[in-house]
This record gives sequence, structure tokens and C-alpha cells, in this order.
Amino acid sequence: MEKIVIEGGRALRGEVPVSGSKNAGLPLLFATLLTSERCVVRGLPHVRDMTTSLRLLEQMGARVGDDGSNGMVVEARTLASTEAPYDLVKTMRASFLALGPLVARTGHARVSTPGGCAIGSRPVDIHLSGLERLGASIRQSHGYVEAEASRLQGAPVPLEFPSVGATENLMMAATLARGTTTIENAAREPEIIDLADTLIAMGATIDGAGTSTITIEGVRELGGFDHVVIPDRIEAGTLIIAAAITGGDVFVRGARPDHLQGLLPKLEEAGVSLEARDGGLAVSVPAGLKAVDLRTAPFPGFPTDLQAQFMALMTTARGRSVMIESIFENRFMHVQELVRMGADIKIDGNSAAVRGVSHLSGAQVMATDLRASVCLVLAGLVASNTTEVSRVYHLDRGYERLEEKLTALGACVRRVPAGSTP
Ligand code: UD1
Repeated sequence: MEKIVIEGGRALRGEVPVSGSKNAGLPLLFATLLTSERCVVRGLPHVRDMTTSLRLLEQMGARVGDDGSNGMVVEARTLASTEAPYDLVKTMRASFLALGPLVARTGHARVSTPGGCAIGSRPVDIHLSGLERLGASIRQSHGYVEAEASRLQGAPVPLEFPSVGATENLMMAATLARGTTTIENAAREPEIIDLADTLIAMGATIDGAGTSTITIEGVRELGGFDHVVIPDRIEAGTLIIAAAITGGDVFVRGARPDHLQGLLPKLEEAGVSLEARDGGLAVSVPAGLKAVDLRTAPFPGFPTDLQAQFMALMTTARGRSVMIESIFENRFMHVQELVRMGADIKIDGNSAAVRGVSHLSGAQVMATDLRASVCLVLAGLVASNTTEVSRVYHLDRGYERLEEKLTALGACVRRVPAGSTP
């Protein structure tokens, strides 16, 4: 197992590009199951979750290839299997997105339930009750969900919570249902709009993506697509915070302010200067950072996927900030590692109080999940001496060439095999 070694204390400077969005790319890959035609997804980041999804599609009988110009081609002409096995779903919860497309196209799907993960229990009840409303019969046994329907039937589908994955699964399923589906209390994340745009290009009729009510008129069949995935707003936010935490001066190319509505006002309140220009955001810190409170919430609120990174930023800000995590029940696992680096953080239920300290000190720390791992890298950028982050396979699930990007901005970050001394 590899680790990432950071020598802290260098302000980041220069320009950095944002990669394509992991969380938008994944549903697009599963949307290819809705058609027998050729689909091309452009700009996918080279991260492990993509490889896992492509492997799953291949196991189902899809032909997968690279078109040589930044496009992954998927052709699911016929499906040899309508099953998503445990060994793949357990490593990536998003593979549950195979359920809706498979049952809609073939009338059958058998998908392993994702089980628990580091950040909480993450059930799939909203996905399942929505599919039942569309007429699927659902059975759960031996750790698998089996869904069947001769043809799904459009219906009103009120969601108990605006789950991103459930909205995506149900929107995909409803495209091939008979009649009209209305998803109420739908998630409004930019990834939902990107998926709807792609489904519309395939021939679906969808109205209201990006609002709380999405209406889908089912059609008999869908065609292929050729779509460029949106930039990764979570990577963009992470790079912006990396610039801010080091007191640097960085242009983040591809960062879209309309996708970062929850984050940007909080950064400005904390003293970060942000200027939108030429397809990106210029980030600098004119006069030190001050503490800001926040609460995570569904889009357009503050994203839970940036909570850990923002907490790293607050560890050396002036004053005390209170951060409330309202989406996942167990998403403070980075806290004890930050404390080992000298941060002053107290947890009380789903709230963490961070009192800014004058400096962090480098330490050996351990990544526990994707966003927690990057928060430790960010902390390492400002800590004195050396920080070693182990278990970086978490990081590789979702960040493309992170060390390379940070190094190009002047950071001292490198990847070494575990066991070697830096
Ligand atoms: C997606 C993102 C993830 C992000 C999350 C919230 C992808 C691949 N992943 O995950 O990075 O952190 O949105 O913005 O896009 N819930 C239920 N029952 C369900 C479904 C969800 O109780 O059937 C709960 C979850 O346990 C969680 C909350 O709803 O507490 C939000 O989950 P959801 O929006 O579904 O997140 P994901 O789609 O899994």
C-alpha cells in the first residue's frame, strides 16, 4: 500500500485544471445500459471508481473501449448478465445505479446491496420504494436486491429525502416506463442536470432537472449519446481550499461558481478572495483566515463532500467555528487525525467545534475515506515538517493526478511505497 508524503509550508501559486466530474461520470456510465446503441462519455477522470464501473459494464456484456480522443465508448448491444455482484458493489456504492437502467430495459436486475461504509450506514430504501412505485416487484435476499417488471409504469414518486443516487436511479428507470413519472423532492445537484441532459440527448423527455420536481415522459427506446462530463465541483472546491489554506495565489481553471454556491460565500466570509474570470476562479488570501460556521445540506447548500476539506482550512483560522454534518452520520473520521497534527477540535454528535491554532505539525496519519484522505493532504500542506498519509487507495477512488497537480503549484508532495522511509 502506498502513502503520500508532504513537506508542508509552501504557498501554492500558478494555474491548475479541474478534471471531469467523478460523480457526474458514474451515472452516465450506467445510463449506457438503457440503450443498445453506442455511447461516448468524454472527459471522465482517470480514477479507480471509473475503472470499477467499466469492469462492471463489461461483466454485463457491454463492449468498452477508448476512442483515443478522451472518450470512453460503451456499447451494451445485448446484455449477457443483469447482475451487479457484491465484490464490485462493495467497493463502490454508485454501482447500485445499475438497478434502475437494467430493470427498465430488460425487466430484470439483481444488484448487491452496498452495505455499510466508513461514513455511515447509507441505506437504499429510497431507491427501492421509488422503483416499487414504478411497478417493479422487489425482493431482497442473500445480500442482493432483485427487481422485476415487464414494463415499468410511470407514477408520482415522492422522495422522503432528496437523495442524489435515488433521483438518478429513478430518473433513468422512468425514461423507459409507460407514461408520466413525477419525482418530487428530487435532488438538485449539478450532476442530476448533467444526467438529464444526457438522457434527453438519448431521446428521453425530461423536464425540471435542477429543481425539486422532475417530470419524465417515458419512451419505448433510447438511442446513444456523445457527451462531455461537467467539471468536478468537489475537486474544484478541494483545489480552491488547497490554495487558501497555504495563503497562495492560484487560478483554478474549470471551477464553476454556479456549481459552488454553497462553498464560495463561506470562503469569502473566511477572508478568501475569489474572482471569477476566463472559465475559472482566481483564489488568494489577502489578510489571513478567520473562523466561519457551516452546516452541510443538499445542493445548493454546503456540500458534505467538502466538509472535511473546509475543516482542515478552519484548523488554522482565527477564532472558533462550528461545523454541523447533516447528511451522513459518521463523517468526522478525519477529526482524530487532524487532532494528531495539533488541531483543536471537539465533536459533539453531528457537530464539531474547531478552535484555530497557530500552526499544525506534520505527523503520520491514516486516510479513512475519500474526502477525509484529501483533507489530511491539505492539512499536510500547511503543517510544519513532514506529513505521511497512509491508505491512499481511498484518495485514488476520486482524485485524478492530485500529487502532480499540487506539485505543479509548488507543493512538495510525493507518493511512495508503504514501508519506505521518506
Ligand atoms: C452522492 C455522492 C456522494 C455525496 C452524496 C451527498 C455519487 C456517486 N456520490 O452519494 O459523493 O456525498 O451524494 O451529496 O454521486 N439515504 C437513505 N436512503 C436511500 C438513499 C440515501 O437513507 O435510499 C441517505 C444516505 O444514507 C445519506 C443521505 O441519504 O445519509 C444522502 O445520500 P445520497 O444523496 O443518496 O448520497 P449518494 O447518492 O449515495
